[in-house]
This record gives sequence, C-alpha cells and structure tokens, in this order.
Amino acid sequence: MLNRTEAVTMIIYLQHLPNEWAKGVLSNKDSLTEERVDEVVQQFLSNFKEGKLQENQWPPHFAAYIVSKAALNAYTWLAAQKYTNLCINSVCPGFARTDLTFNYGVLSEVEAAEAPVKVALLPHGGPSGSFFLRREALSL
Ligand SMILES: NC(=O)c1ccc[n+]([C@@H]2O[C@H](COP(=O)([O-])OP(=O)(O)OC[C@H]3O[C@@H](n4cnc5c(N)ncnc54)[C@H](OP(=O)(O)O)[C@@H]3O)[C@@H](O)[C@H]2O)c1
Repeated sequence: MLNRTEAVTMIIYLQHLPNEWAKGVLSNKDSLTEERVDEVVQQFLSNFKEGKLQENQWPPHFAAYIVSKAALNAYTWLAAQKYTNLCINSVCPGFARTDLTFNYGVLSEVEAAEAPVKVALLPHGGPSGSFFLRREALSL
C-alpha cells in the first residue's frame, strides 16, 4: 500500500518509468515515431498478459496508468511536430478529489480544472509540444 506522499508522487510524475528501454524509446526525439510509441505499449501489454511486469521493470504501482501517460506525452510531442499550426500540449491537473482518486486529493475539482482550461485557451503561437504540470510548462 502506498503512503500519501508516494501516491501523490506516482500520480504527479507520470513520466517516471523504471523500464530503461521504454524510457529511452519515448524520450529519444530523433528516432521517435507513432510506431515506436505503439511498440512500447504493445510490449507492456504483452508483459502484462504474461504476468511479467516486475521482471521487465515496469512500474510497481499504477503501471498501466503510468505507461499510458508516458505514451500520451510522447504522442503529444509527435502531434505537435506534425501539426505546427496548432498548440498541442498535455497537462497534469494536480492531485484532485475526483472519481478517479476516490475523492482523495489535495485539490478540488474546480481548482484542478484551472490548468487544463488555461492550456486549452492558450493563444495562437503559444507553447506546443509541452507537458504542463499544473501551470508550469516542462519540455517533453
Ligand atoms: N484526479 C487526479 O488527481 C488526476 C491527476 C493527474 C492526472 N489526472 C488526469 O486527468 C484526467 C481526468 O481525471 P479525473 O480525475 O477527472 O477522472 P474521472 O473523475 O474518472 O473522470 C474521467 C472523465 O472522463 C470521461 N471518460 C472516461 N472514458 C471516456 C471515454 N472513453 N470517452 C469519453 N469520455 C470518457 C468520464 O466520463 P463518464 O463519467 O461519463 O464515465 C469522466 O467524465 C485523466 O486523464 C486523469 O488521468 C487526474
């Protein structure tokens, strides 16, 4: 069972992947393609079905969630490179009390909605291909 701090950390730092191969694929911008993102997801699914998540260094907790978010961030970056006339970003709203967290979190739904709404309303020419940790833009 995770303690509160660990739970917050796992949810906020979605990019944390112990599997070095997957981390390398998703973070290498020179060779990243949609097919490579899919390869990581398929490998995860394959290891999951075989019951081999632990021996292949996938996250010990919230594995599917973390892998899906890491893949989403990689895809966000790819989409931003492809559609340069749009602002395409991903955003973590923070640890919020919603159905997903069984109403356990530090932010209300309204407080958590602030960052996604702000990112959705970015002006033309604003950042694209970024990951927003609430209001803070981080490079993908
Ligand atoms: N809450 C947190 O602390 C937290 C932290 C970091 C990131 N996030 C991310 O923020 C996002 C929203 O999270 P949340 O906490 O608001 O989750 P939530 O309370 O479970 O709400 C998820 C929403 O997504 C809708 N949905 C689910 N599957 C869908 C589908 N296939 N097509 C269309 N809509 C679908 C649900 O609709 P129905 O109600 O109709 O099923 C629901 O309105 C998620 O991506 C989550 O990973 C949340």
